[in-house]
Amino acid sequence: SPSDPDLVERARAAKEKLGDKVFVLGHHYQRDEVIQFADVTGDSFKLARDAAARPEAEYIVFCGVHFMAESADILTSAEQKVVLPDLAAGCSMADMATAEQVAECWDVLTEAGIAEQVVPVSYMNSSADIKAFTGKHGGTICTSSNARRALEWAFGQGDPASTKVLFLPDQHLGRNTAVRDMGMSLEDCVVYNPHKPNGGLTTEELRAAKMILWRGHCSVHGRFSLESVNDVRARIPGVNVLVHPECRHEVVAAADHVGSTEYIIKALEEAPAGSKWAIGTELNLVRRLANRFAPEGKEIVFLDRTVCFCSTMNRIDLPHLVWTLESLAEGTLVNRIEVDAETEAFAKLALERMLALP
Ligand code: 13P
Ligand code: SF4
Repeated sequence: SPSDPDLVERARAAKEKLGDKVFVLGHHYQRDEVIQFADVTGDSFKLARDAAARPEAEYIVFCGVHFMAESADILTSAEQKVVLPDLAAGCSMADMATAEQVAECWDVLTEAGIAEQVVPVSYMNSSADIKAFTGKHGGTICTSSNARRALEWAFGQGDPASTKVLFLPDQHLGRNTAVRDMGMSLEDCVVYNPHKPNGGLTTEELRAAKMILWRGHCSVHGRFSLESVNDVRARIPGVNVLVHPECRHEVVAAADHVGSTEYIIKALEEAPAGSKWAIGTELNLVRRLANRFAPEGKEIVFLDRTVCFCSTMNRIDLPHLVWTLESLAEGTLVNRIEVDAETEAFAKLALERMLALP
């Protein structure tokens, strides 16, 4: 992508001046102009793990969204400062579960007499408050690359026959993992709507469910439809459809392969020359992969041309990165993300359970 050569040079110079004091992490959905300055790129799981891998770096510049920077702060030492180049880089999915709503949900489960059977499993894409709730109630965090192992762990926490999982906040990842990977049925899943009294569920429905799915979703992945899958199959005979598990269930059920961003990249690296792929995930990543693999004769298209970038991921651009790096190089700490100590303690418990999954 055409990045301003003057800004590229300024970012390079500031980063060089900072040396080992700075470690730049870049999620796969970041713009090319930002990714070129990342010391490490990855999916949410890899970045959570790698954030803690550079204890000598005073500044962790997180090119991604707010919940990722919070998780990095939780997993790094108190002396390390995590910086998000634009504080407006949030995540609409993470915003769909607030601490008050989740506390209210727990009251509903308690009143239905099932709270003791419920293990919370929260997607990484959630605020530190939700992670702390999860840790406090004996649950774990998961990402799209370990959701199955997290659910298996959760159902092993009590009697598997009566244990239930409260899955927050992405209903699609929860349903797709339960049904596609673990053989549960759609009827085993109910959707808890935080905007309705009792979550919109009867006590009988709550008691019968194995998976209580929070009514959240990703606004980007939610736009891929079964029609997009059918259209691309008609347009490109022999195409392999590969989608992210944040897509709706009917899309995942119709796809050939499903996985995290890291999985998607590996699948394309291993794909034979001449193969054709339609990818259902964020556009920055799909474009980068299409350009990268075109010379090897792999045809990669975006699953649905009407879907666009993740607008909050895109908030991190080269001007914000330059401003961040230059400020840090001048000794001015900007845009620090810091989770308070009590939230951090419980959230860390939940994150460490995830990191310890087999
Ligand atoms: P992964 O990179 O873990 O697949 O997550 C995708 C995502 O939506 C992050 O916001
Ligand atoms: Fe959130 Fe979806 Fe954007 Fe990921 S792609 S940051 S889940 S809105």
